[in-house]
Amino acid sequence: MLAAPINPSDINMIQGNYGLLPQLPAVGGNEGVGQVVAVGSSVTGVKPGDWVIPANPGLGTWRTEAVFGEEELITVPSDIPLQCAATLGVNPCTAYRMLVDFERLQPGDSVIQNASNSGVGQAVIQIAAALGLRTINVLRDRPDLQKLTDRLKNLGADHIVTEEGLRKPEMKSFFKDVPQPRLALNCVGGKSSTELLRHLAPGGTMVTYGGMAKQPVIASASQLIFKDLKLRGFWLSQWKKDHSPGQLLLPSRGADSGEDCRGGQPRKENKLWLQPDWAQILLPPLLAIGSAEPAMGHQASYLTSALVSVS
Ligand SMILES: NC(=O)c1ccc[n+]([C@@H]2O[C@H](COP(=O)([O-])OP(=O)(O)OC[C@H]3O[C@@H](n4cnc5c(N)ncnc54)[C@H](OP(=O)(O)O)[C@@H]3O)[C@@H](O)[C@H]2O)c1
Repeated sequence: MLAAPINPSDINMIQGNYGLLPQLPAVGGNEGVGQVVAVGSSVTGVKPGDWVIPANPGLGTWRTEAVFGEEELITVPSDIPLQCAATLGVNPCTAYRMLVDFERLQPGDSVIQNASNSGVGQAVIQIAAALGLRTINVLRDRPDLQKLTDRLKNLGADHIVTEEGLRKPEMKSFFKDVPQPRLALNCVGGKSSTELLRHLAPGGTMVTYGGMAKQPVIASASQLIFKDLKLRGFWLSQWKKDHSPGQLLLPSRGADSGEDCRGGQPRKENKLWLQPDWAQILLPPLLAIGSAEPAMGHQASYLTSALVSVS
């Protein structure tokens, strides 16, 4: 393994409150990039030197070496930055699927999201810009808000609003110039998600993919009755189970929903994928979940450093 991130879901898995739990003892880490050192004689899909990422969650990427079946890996280009390759498989894919699977959006339409500085949020900003969609990005206030705003705008964000700003009456005039979004992406829950719902266009969809505030999503009866808003959820692991690898880049639920966006002219020049800011940290030598001793065989060595996103 060359590099592996620490994602919130990795922590949830260790806490035992994730939708997918490994058999113990297990190695943590669901994402990362490795380099193939050697292959068996009947292997045709990968060769020594290739960079590979996990095809599915649960591979245990926080280690230095492992033996995997070729069907467990996807080859990625090795001429992209290491941190991009290590974080390609989860957040950008989640962002893309949510943008194309739930609402039939056209270039010029807008999308609203909270936790916009998260790894997923930054992927949403970049992919939406490439699809010609406008993003309304909600953030928690902070002392260096301007710096973060500049960074997100540089990625392609159109509008930045704080959680507090979203509750202000001035938002009414904001939506005179910007089309009301038909898609909201909720990473937070609680009050933040209620605010997203308030600004959704009638008939629009809010997709919940994270619960960072650990509070329930609350929709008022009037939002459901008079605005007919739809509340949906997305989980990439389930999506992968439901789709063969060949379908990864094709639209699913919204039938042909993605085609319209892809057919339209990108509003901004496509840039290379920019990964979230990251810091490299040293890990303690043993990260086997539920095991005091390192597991035997190919799980015996552990990654000594991992990437943490700094939003
Ligand atoms: N469903 C799926 O398939 C799927 C796929 C990928 C990720 N996810 C989920 O998406 C979420 C984000 O993942 P990530 O890797 O993008 O995370 P990340 O880069 O670590 O970002 C975390 C984000 O959560 C915000 N946050 C943290 N605590 C919060 C709180 N109490 N209230 C409001 N906001 C809070 C942070 O905002 P501040 O900067 O203001 O702290 C930041 O924007 C996680 O819940 C993850 O499990 C789900």
